[in-house]
Amino acid sequence: MKKEVVLSGIRPTGFVHLGNYFGAVRNWANMQKEYDCYFCVVDWHSLTTHPDTRELRQHVHRLLSELIASGLDPEQCVLYIQSDVPEIAELYLYLNMMAYKGELEKTTTFKDKARSQPDNINAGLLTYPVLQTADILIHRATNVPVGKDQEQHLEMARNFADRFNHRYGDVFPLPKAFNYGKDLIKIMSLDGSGKMSKSENQMNTLYLADDDDLLRKKIMKAKTDGGPTEANSIKPEYIQNLFGLMQLVSHADVIAKFEADFNNCVIRYGDMKKQLAEDMVNFISPIREKAKAIENDKDYLSKVIKQGRDKARASAAATIQLVRNAVGVNY
Ligand code: TRP
Repeated sequence: MKKEVVLSGIRPTGFVHLGNYFGAVRNWANMQKEYDCYFCVVDWHSLTTHPDTRELRQHVHRLLSELIASGLDPEQCVLYIQSDVPEIAELYLYLNMMAYKGELEKTTTFKDKARSQPDNINAGLLTYPVLQTADILIHRATNVPVGKDQEQHLEMARNFADRFNHRYGDVFPLPKAFNYGKDLIKIMSLDGSGKMSKSENQMNTLYLADDDDLLRKKIMKAKTDGGPTEANSIKPEYIQNLFGLMQLVSHADVIAKFEADFNNCVIRYGDMKKQLAEDMVNFISPIREKAKAIENDKDYLSKVIKQGRDKARASAAATIQLVRNAVGVNY
């Protein structure tokens, strides 16, 4: 039986952090066997907010390296760069004729970005969800692993696909947001305010590229307080977050000890953070070193890029032929 098609995209705009790793990339890695997986480094999307391309090449190479070090296997999935697949741009063009100015202007991400870069409210920013739809539909993907913040884009993708099908005939299955396994893990920033972020508040975010001492320093600086004064208290969010991080990287008996200490009001947060820092270093450093080795192996990277491009283009070419036939631009 044909496997269901999974597609997701990630922008090359910053270092991969723990939130990306546990919230997205690790899940993608787990899907590779069961699904027909496409993972795309969306460099065109990054131009909507990062027009300066001097570091783009380095960012794309590093992101690919970090994705592979995190478990994406270029032999098992199709790992490729968006701009290597011109069919995406062609599909974006057709879809743009079905996307209305009003609905694009209403999109939450557009409004947020227009507010944060008032001097550069470009048309690419406005039609960002259309390009994202083209990313998905070019492989006729149905399952799109994304976080909550992308649900509106997915709904728009379904609308655009549906409009295309109505106007020109059934070409696209309707894509849906997709969670693998249990609830998505959300990693809060170390000061307990908001999510870990690719580009903001770097001291409160743990990156896969951080060296051991920086990881320790960030964790030791994480917000705590004087500790609970009543047995079995409810944990404040920033404390819960430290326990949440322990759940990801520490042994069960270690976690149980600090849980008990908290409940008995004898917890020493300094000790807890020291333990968490060591466990985090042991978790992250092998991934970091692997990513570094890959990034330095330019021959290997260009082989991966070419292989991804070839596989992605084969699938994209088949779809664009169906699209051209359906639209009637096949002379
Ligand atoms: N917009 C997504 C984000 O900001 C990135 C993205 C681009 C994407 N194209 C995609 C995600 C296609 C899923 C499918 O995270």
